[in-house]
Amino acid sequence: MKVVHATPEDARAVAEIHVAAWRVAYRSIVSDDYLASLSIEHHEAMWGERIDSGDSELLVAKKAGVVQGWISFGKCRDIGSHNSEAELWAIYVSPTVWSTGAGRLLWLRAKELMLEQGFKSCSLWVFPQNERAIKFYHSAGFVHDGSDPKNFELGGAQLQEVRFVSQLGY
Ligand SMILES: CC(C)(COP(=O)(O)OP(=O)(O)OC[C@H]1O[C@@H](n2cnc3c(N)ncnc32)[C@H](O)[C@@H]1OP(=O)(O)O)[C@@H](O)C(=O)NCCC(=O)NCCS
Repeated sequence: MKVVHATPEDARAVAEIHVAAWRVAYRSIVSDDYLASLSIEHHEAMWGERIDSGDSELLVAKKAGVVQGWISFGKCRDIGSHNSEAELWAIYVSPTVWSTGAGRLLWLRAKELMLEQGFKSCSLWVFPQNERAIKFYHSAGFVHDGSDPKNFELGGAQLQEVRFVSQLGY
C-alpha cells in the first residue's frame, strides 16, 4: 500500500469511500434518512473541485492502484487558532478494509507533511459515539482536550462533536 497526493482521477473513489464509510460508521449516530440521501455524484463533484483548487491536502492510500482510504488536512479552522496548529479535517477508509492498516499509514504520512509544513500540533472533531475512530485516534496519540463540545443540527437531529488534539513533535 502506498500513500500519495490525490489527483482529479481519484475524486470518484474518494466520494465512494466517503459515502460508504458514513453509512456504516454513522448508522446509529446520524439519521437513516440523511445517510440514505448522501450522493456519490455530489461528493465526487465536491472532491474534484477541492483537488483542483489545491486549498487543502488530500492524500489517498492505494493498493494495486485502488484507493483504500483518504485523509484531508490543513490549517486549523477553529476561531482563534494559531498558524502552528493543523487540523485533521477528515479520514475515511473503505469499510471493507477497516483494521488492516490503511488509516494508520494515512495518518503517519499526513503527520510527516504537517511537520514539514511547520505545524506543531493537530486537532480534530469527532462524534463521541464513534468508538472505532476514538480508539484509532488514541492509538495515534490524540487525547480529548476538554474544550466545549460543538453542537449542530444535521438531517433534523441534534449532534455533538468533541475535540481531540495531538502534539506532533517526537
Ligand atoms: C477510523 C478509521 C479511519 C481507521 O482506519 P483503519 O484503516 O481501520 O485503521 P488501521 O487499520 O490503520 O488501525 C487499526 C489498528 O491500529 C491501531 N493504530 C492506529 N494508528 C496507530 C498508531 N499510530 N500507532 C499504533 N497503533 C495504531 C488502531 O488502534 C487499530 O486497532 P485494531 O487493529 O484493533 O483495529 C476507519 O475505521 C474509518 O474510516 N472509520 C469511519 C470513518 C470515521 O469514523 N472517520 C473519522 C471521523 S472523525
